[in-house]
Amino acid sequence: MALVKSGIGAVFWPRDAAKSNELQRVATEETPHGIPLLVGLDVIHGHYTIFPTPIAQGSSFDPSVARTDAQISAGEARSGGVNWTFSPMVDVSRDPRWGRVVEGFGEDPYLNAQMGVAKVRGYQGSALHESTSLLACAKHFVAYGQAEGGRDYNTVDLSEQRLRNLYFEPFKSMVDEGVATVMASFNTVSGRPAHANHYLLTDILKSEWGHIGFVVGDAEGIPNLIAHGVASDLQDALKQAFRAGLDMDMGGYVVDVNGSMAVAESDIDGDRVNDAVRRILRLKFALGLFDNPYVQVGDAATEPTALTRRAAHDAAVRSIVLLKNDGTLPLSRTLSKVLLVGPYADSTDHLGAWTQSFAAPAASLAQVLKERLQHSQLTVMEGAVFQGSNSSLQTQACDAAYEHDCVIVAVGEPSKLTGEASSRSDLRLPGDQEALILAIAQTGVPFVVVMSNGRPLVISDWADHAPALLEVWHLGTEAAPAIVDVLFGEANPGGKLPMTFPRSVGQVPIYYNHESTGRPARFSANVISDAPDVGLHGPDNTNDYFTSKYLDLELGPLFSFGHGLSYTHFSVGVPTSNVLCLTRDQLQRGMQFEIAIELKNTGKREGDEVLQLYVRDKVASLAQPMRRLRGFQRVPLKVGQTSVVTFTVGWQDLGFWSDSRPSRYQVEPGEFEVHVGSSLLNTQMLEVSVVL
Ligand code: GLC
Repeated sequence: MALVKSGIGAVFWPRDAAKSNELQRVATEETPHGIPLLVGLDVIHGHYTIFPTPIAQGSSFDPSVARTDAQISAGEARSGGVNWTFSPMVDVSRDPRWGRVVEGFGEDPYLNAQMGVAKVRGYQGSALHESTSLLACAKHFVAYGQAEGGRDYNTVDLSEQRLRNLYFEPFKSMVDEGVATVMASFNTVSGRPAHANHYLLTDILKSEWGHIGFVVGDAEGIPNLIAHGVASDLQDALKQAFRAGLDMDMGGYVVDVNGSMAVAESDIDGDRVNDAVRRILRLKFALGLFDNPYVQVGDAATEPTALTRRAAHDAAVRSIVLLKNDGTLPLSRTLSKVLLVGPYADSTDHLGAWTQSFAAPAASLAQVLKERLQHSQLTVMEGAVFQGSNSSLQTQACDAAYEHDCVIVAVGEPSKLTGEASSRSDLRLPGDQEALILAIAQTGVPFVVVMSNGRPLVISDWADHAPALLEVWHLGTEAAPAIVDVLFGEANPGGKLPMTFPRSVGQVPIYYNHESTGRPARFSANVISDAPDVGLHGPDNTNDYFTSKYLDLELGPLFSFGHGLSYTHFSVGVPTSNVLCLTRDQLQRGMQFEIAIELKNTGKREGDEVLQLYVRDKVASLAQPMRRLRGFQRVPLKVGQTSVVTFTVGWQDLGFWSDSRPSRYQVEPGEFEVHVGSSLLNTQMLEVSVVL
């Protein structure tokens, strides 16, 4: 309250509508300027109703999942006095050691852009003054996800062309969409911390892209400049940050509690101050705060409704990825004895990173299975622990397995190991969960594995032994019912991986949109996969020397970006294009070409398939990725139904940014491959030429 009286312009939400109103009253009636407050909060994937984590939402390959989350979250939060969320996070990352991969939409810039724009639309709605709208915040600008070693806050050093071709797109798309605010990232970018980086915050964001909202620092981001070694003290840090283009400090360092400024007015150019103030006031007007900064306390949401729960449930189902299935899934409801084991068997830890203390809790798998399996005997046992080991639990679980028709092994990564400041050097299932899976496999009793985690994990030591494997991430308030629906076939999983699953942590970073290199390895590996430690045997492709690979590891990831199965089957036709050759000028003037492809449900049940479109520029002035995702569509099909799916491809899909400064976006003439299919490894290709 003292800071508000001193004239501060924004606060964190006081977790209560009445308190929020009181802060607004003091700000508008008891301060010299009488300006209402921005009230911010991390509404990342839900407020009271918790939706799947962003990486799970990325698995849905369905922007409507992100938009629905944002719309419902905004309504719940604004009703209590929040008017600004620090979301969406669209940090592209190729390093699952980095705990914050859970907060973004994976390794691809296009997928992050599509999902990020959907969230901005959901949060900001049709008008910011609506009672269901929040200011959105694109974060963290920029390239935070390339922290060296996957260690949070660590150094980022990259070329101009990688910065532009990989990290800028999601932010540029959201600025074009009108995102209200942008948050600076903690990291350096090629030696210069983002919080004091004029090139990023002003030249790119405001001058080149035309961002008219404001840029906020991250918590402690300004004093961190001292630790970065670029500022001698707080005043120096403040001056550098505001001169670079930061408009608002998150930590309250600009003024102290008696309201005196920590920097003298002469320290910062008046025009810069006016620019920052203008940007912030414009949004306060747009929110309608000058007309009415208050909320109706009696109307404030306090918990989910049946509708919001339904929406969260549907989002959860759409975020589940079927990684493996030998036919064991879906389970039959006629099973008479089901054993549920694993530390996630009776855990309610499904909300995931970045939820508030008042978030609606999730049920456990055990609770939902007990309700659903009325005519079966359900036994629940822990079987393993998240930390350390307990072989007696494992022995009890295996002894019990012999008495049951099927075992559901519920494992994962507790959400406290994911999110900010949660980098891990070992990406395997924590504790002795792997041992439990292998021991259950040894029993010979049919089993399925359900994995709840916040990042791609290394599962090479046991995945081959699992008849079926569901990646369910942390799915939010309605996680358990959604998982049980998929386990028993009430719902058909249709998600795809938004991030590569490495075979080993030593492979990281490994990602789909890689360059060919001058010596691409050939997939001629004949790995002795049943060897006690396949890593020691490595690829038996000794005739493939002097190429880019490891001597001690099979080539490629365990599961690729875009991978995901279904309980039904689909056939994908041959792609056709309405144009096979066009000039660069036609493209530059906005001409697009259409790719059409037939998709048929050839299986025995309805389901969704995510058709993905990748492009490849075969020869260019800079080495190009082997594939770049430039389109995806999640298509629901009934049994026997056929659909012709069309994609449009244009200027924005075929070009790349040069490595010069200033960098230029260009589409170079030549041959382009267009790959369309149900996964990265299962596509049909056609060639399109661009001529001068
Ligand atoms: C944290 C995070 C940022 C979050 C902010 C406010 O340090 O980096 O994503 O929005 O502080 O909680």
